Parts: sequence; C-alpha cells; structure tokens
Amino acid sequence: MLKVDLANTWSDRFESGLNPFVQRFNASISFDIKLLQEDLDGSIAHALMLGECGVITNEEARQIVEGLEKIRLEAKVGNFKTSVDDEDVHFAVERRLIDLLGPIGKKLHTGRSRNDQVGTDLRLWLRKRIDEIDQQLKRFQKALLVHADNNLYTLIPGYTHLQRAQPLSLAHHLLAYIEMAQRDRERLQDVRKRVNISPLGSAALAGTSIPIDRMKTAKALGFPAIYANSLDGVSDRDFSVEFTSAISLVMIHLSRLSEEIILWASDEFSFIRLTDRCATGSSLMPQKKNPDIPELVRGKCGRVFGNLQCLLTMIKGLPLSYNKDFQEDKEAIFDTVSTVQSSLEAMSILLEEGLEFCQEKLAIAVATDFSNATDVADYLVGKGIPFRQAYQIVGRVVKDCLAKGILLKDLSIDQWREINSVIEADIYEKLAPKQVVASRISQGGTGFVRVEEQLTSWRTQLDS
Ligand code: ARG
Repeated sequence: MLKVDLANTWSDRFESGLNPFVQRFNASISFDIKLLQEDLDGSIAHALMLGECGVITNEEARQIVEGLEKIRLEAKVGNFKTSVDDEDVHFAVERRLIDLLGPIGKKLHTGRSRNDQVGTDLRLWLRKRIDEIDQQLKRFQKALLVHADNNLYTLIPGYTHLQRAQPLSLAHHLLAYIEMAQRDRERLQDVRKRVNISPLGSAALAGTSIPIDRMKTAKALGFPAIYANSLDGVSDRDFSVEFTSAISLVMIHLSRLSEEIILWASDEFSFIRLTDRCATGSSLMPQKKNPDIPELVRGKCGRVFGNLQCLLTMIKGLPLSYNKDFQEDKEAIFDTVSTVQSSLEAMSILLEEGLEFCQEKLAIAVATDFSNATDVADYLVGKGIPFRQAYQIVGRVVKDCLAKGILLKDLSIDQWREINSVIEADIYEKLAPKQVVASRISQGGTGFVRVEEQLTSWRTQLDS
C-alpha cells in the first residue's frame, strides 16, 4: 500500500520535515476529530459532484465514496487511527483514503481546499447541535410548565430590588422563564439561517478553474444557499459569534433561574426543598444539603462568555481571507456546545425530579408582609382618591403598623375608618393575598384568569 505522509512533506517545495514541537503546535487533530462525520459527508458530496461534472469519472467517484464509507466504519469500531502527523481531521481522512485507494484517493481534493472544507464541516456540525439544543430547550420549557400547571393558585412573594413587592401566582413566575427560553429558541433559529450556507467550492479563497458545481454539493448537504463571495465563504466566522452570543443568553437565563433556586432552597427563604436525587452533602457539616447543580450552571456561564470574547478577539484583526487563527474557533465552539448542552440537561433533571415547592412556607410568606399595600392604595383610588394621595396615606399606615409590629389585616375597621372615612369592611377581602393576585387581570398580569390563558397557550405550543 502506498503510504503518504501529507503533513510532514507537503509539496516538493519543502525539503525538511517540521520541527516536532512546531508540528504539535500546528496540529488540530486532537480536537477537530470531532468533525469526522461531517468531513466524510462533505467529502462524499464533493466526490459525487466531481463525478457528475465530469472532473473525475463516475467510477472514480464511486470508489472514493466507498473508501470514505469504509473510513466511517473503521472509525465506528475504533480502527481509524490518527496521529499528530495527520495535522487535522481533513488530512487524516485524505491520508487514509490514499492508503486505501492509491492514486484515485489523490483525486478527492480536486477543486477544494481545507479552507472551504473546514468551514463546511463546522457548519454541518453546528447545524446538528443547534437542532439538539432546540429540543433541549423545549424539554426545559416542558419541565417548567409541569410545575406551573401544578401551581396556578400557589402564591409566592414577588420581588423588585430583592425586596418584597407584590404577591404572584407561582405559575406566573415560572412562565416568565418559559418565555425567555422561547426567545432563546427563536434566536437560535435565526442564527441557524446563517450557519446554513455552504462555503464549499470557495476553494482556497478565489474559487477554482476546475468546472465544479457548488449548488450540487450544497443541495446534497442540505444547504439551501451558497456563499456568493468565495473570500467571504472561507473567512466568515460571524456565525460562530452569533451562536455563542445566543448561547450566552441561554446561559444567562439558566443562571438567573439557578440563582433563584439557590435562594429559595436556603433556610432564609425555604420556598423549595431539594430532593436527594439532585442535592449533595458536605464532607464536614452533616446537616447540609447543597444546591451544587444550580451553582455549577451559574458558574459555567463564565466559560461561555469567555468563549464569546475569545471568538470576537480572534476575528477582529484578520485580513481577508483565511488565516490560521481560525483554527482557534473550534475549541471555543465545542466548549460552548458541551457547556450549554450539559447545563440544559442538568437543569431539566433538577426541575423534573430535583425540587419540590414548600406550599406551607409559601402560604405563610405571602400572608405576613406588606405586599398588599398597593392594593389598599388601589382601593382608595376606586373610592375617588387620586393615586398619589392614596399612596401617601398608605405609606403612613404602613409606617404606623411597622412601629406597632402589626400587619395591614390586623387593623380594626374603626382604625381603617379613622385613616379615611371612605374605607369600608370590604377592605379585608381586598387585602387577602389570593384576592390581591386575582385582581391583577391586566394583559400579561398575574391574575389567575390571565395566567390560566398563558398556561393553555403554552400547553398547546409545547405539545406540537
Ligand atoms: N485545521 C485547519 C483549521 O481548523 C484547517 C484549515 C487549514 N487551512 C490552511 N490553509 N492551513 O482551520
């Protein structure tokens, strides 16, 4: 069999091999082997197109495809051996093909460069991952929806500035995260459109004099369009920035929910209990149950934001067209994908089997604060008092109650009448947390009828 050492000898222009350290420094095979399936898919599409265009014979194309499929099988059973001598996945495949086929294998790279090849592989790979992440986001939404469905009438204190503000339907609070995840999905669909363009056939940078047909390879690989400009085709990495930016927002949303879960699980809040399936112990303090899972998700944000910075910096000073700097995009993209995929999996499991809401604690929390103060002001507005004046009156009442260590509901009807003669006994009804929540029926508000509408709409949306 003919042995070809592509990486070490290049063309006849080179006289000596690479310095061994330089060879390792230059190589990407240790990580871009992840692109093997896509490299084979791209090469098969290219070979078939070369055959159809008469650049090689159909028989040669058939043998090349057979060789590439053989490599796929070898990889499947762990027999596709690569080493640093291969430099990258593209050379590794070509080297093995030439081992298998001899001179015919040498025809595969006609009218193509590793520059358009790597761009094609990366886009094919990322397109699959975007579709997986979309499904993972949907699972996360469904896990939230189960809790929301079970907790329409469960109340939870709502906060602004992390100060008790107004009580909420717990379902309403959870639905806010479903909305965020939906925007994440939409953003990824938008990014996908720009990932889904074929650079193949841009060749090194200028196109090629070989009579290829770029639409044929694009179609075979499921790309609806090709890059119109070959220079742009080999040097566009905007999509990697857009993707990592969209994923940064996914991580931010997961991190904000993580932070709430961590707070809620603390003794200070006690709104949730972590089950033994997802909580961990301390090596020293026997009483502890730690929320390691949401803490890790919160912590992992840094990696993705770092990857975004890495990509932005990598691209910003590069002249057209391809530059080897681009080899650095892969680890940033791969790490972004594995981080978001594992974080989504962990958060879905946490929601599915890792936490329970403490109904008693939540009920006490919403009944023992001044989060119904706005409702007294709104009550006075209903009696014809201008809002700003009502606001002042209630502010004074809250101050007096605090001084006496009582709540608004503890004031007697005589005391209320003294505060303002328009107040009647129905004030007590208005102060009850359930009524407070029920009354907020403005569009998008926490009123049960509104939240019920949202639940119904999400059930339909997420069912499909
Ligand atoms: N391993 C390279 C990368 O990831 C493949 C393209 C190499 N092209 C080149 N002209 N050296 O970008």
